[in-house]
Parts: sequence; C-alpha cells; structure tokens
Amino acid sequence: MPQPVENFAKDLSQAKAGPALDAPAFHRNKEALVEALSRHLSDETGSLLEIGSGTGQHACTFAGAFPGLTYHPTDLHDEHIASIEAWRQSAEYPNLKPATRLDALTDDWSTVIPGLTSQSLTALLAINVIHISPWPVAEAIFSAAGHYLKEDGALITYGPYKRNGEHTAESNAKFDASLKRLNPGFGVRDIAEVQDLAKRAHLELADEIAMPANNLTLVFKRSG
Ligand SMILES: C[S@@+](CC[C@H](N)C(=O)[O-])C[C@H]1O[C@@H](n2cnc3c(N)ncnc32)[C@H](O)[C@@H]1O
Repeated sequence: MPQPVENFAKDLSQAKAGPALDAPAFHRNKEALVEALSRHLSDETGSLLEIGSGTGQHACTFAGAFPGLTYHPTDLHDEHIASIEAWRQSAEYPNLKPATRLDALTDDWSTVIPGLTSQSLTALLAINVIHISPWPVAEAIFSAAGHYLKEDGALITYGPYKRNGEHTAESNAKFDASLKRLNPGFGVRDIAEVQDLAKRAHLELADEIAMPANNLTLVFKRSG
C-alpha cells in the first residue's frame, strides 16, 4: 500500500464490520470536494468510476451526495478493496456498487469492470492518485478517460499541482520532496504536463477549482 495515506487505520468506529480504514485527510477535504464536484455532477446520471478509491470514504460520501450516479469504486490494493467494502456496507447506498480491484495500468479496463464499454462513463474520478503513483498511472488514467468517457463526460482529478514549473506553495514543495523520497516516480505534477496528457486523449481543461490547502480540482472534458 502506498505510504502517503497517513494513519489509515485510525478510526474504525463508524464501520459496521471489517477492516475499514480512516484517512484523516478525508475529514479535512470532504466538504470542499462535494462542493467542487457538485458543479459538474449534481444533475448527472449514468456511471461514475473512481480510480484509487483508497479507504472508500470518498466513495460513500459522494454516492450519497450524487444519488443519480451509479458509483463504481476501485483500487489496486486488496486491503483498500476490503476497506471500501466495509464502508460501503456501512453506508448502504443503493447506487454504490461493490469495489473492484483495478490497476490503472491494465490495458483494457473493460476486462475488469462489468458493463464498461467505450463512451459509457459519465465521470472518471481520481483523487490524490496522480501525484502518489508513478507517471504511467497518470498516462493510463487520461488515456482511459479518452476512451471510456461519454461525449460530455468528465475526468475529475484532485490534488496539488505545479504551475509553469513552480510550486504554488512551500507546503506543496515539501510534500513533493517527501513523495519523491518515498518513490522517485511519485511527485506533484505540473498543470501543463497533465494538459499534455489530456490533449493526447482529445480532452481539454474545462474547469479549475481552487481548493483548501493549495490543492486543485481539475475537470477535463472532450475538446472541440
Ligand atoms: C494517496 S491514495 C488516495 C486514496 C483516496 N483516493 C483518497 O484520496 O483518500 C492513492 C490511491 O491510489 C491507488 N493506486 C496507486 N497506484 C494505482 C494503480 N496503478 N491503479 C489503481 N490504483 C492505484 C492506491 O492503492 C491508493 O489507494
């Protein structure tokens, strides 16, 4: 399991059973994230796939906030799948589907996600994934977005970003250095770098929402 998800097992009290994990950052960012996502997801229907759902706490919160969407949480790691399942069973939202083990680097995501076909997703969500995984994961997420998003679908990412090659805050620079110590392939990405990935996938940056603690929610949609 990637290390930067701090103190994952801090508070298990709210889950009915199973190995629910708790990410302190979830409690700090959930309200701001719901507000940001509301700008693009409030009236939406169809399927949302979350890549790297981690503890599953965002999945439960967002499935509750956006009941028109069928929410598919996924993660690479078995202990995260177990945590997502524990929170999911606790939340009991009918639109929150069971967690699936999905490695973003899998060539064809439809071999893993039932019912996933070209242009079938309303939204693809990646929260705190692009900087806490190797760069090929970011490449795979944008490529998948280009393939699986509906015509007016959205790829939504959240995390810290550099702008014009510079960190936007000292705290982000320190975080970047700590990520790189953990894994040289991790790191705070530049907005221009992810825009390049978007362009390759025929997407463009459609919205940029300033978030607390010098983070950004970026929304990519089909270009042209
Ligand atoms: C920092 S955690 C963020 C978890 C959660 N989204 C959050 O914000 O609390 C990064 C997540 O990405 C997942 N991840 C890393 N590499 C991945 C890959 N190749 N495919 C799918 N998920 C991956 C990790 O297992 C982890 O759950």
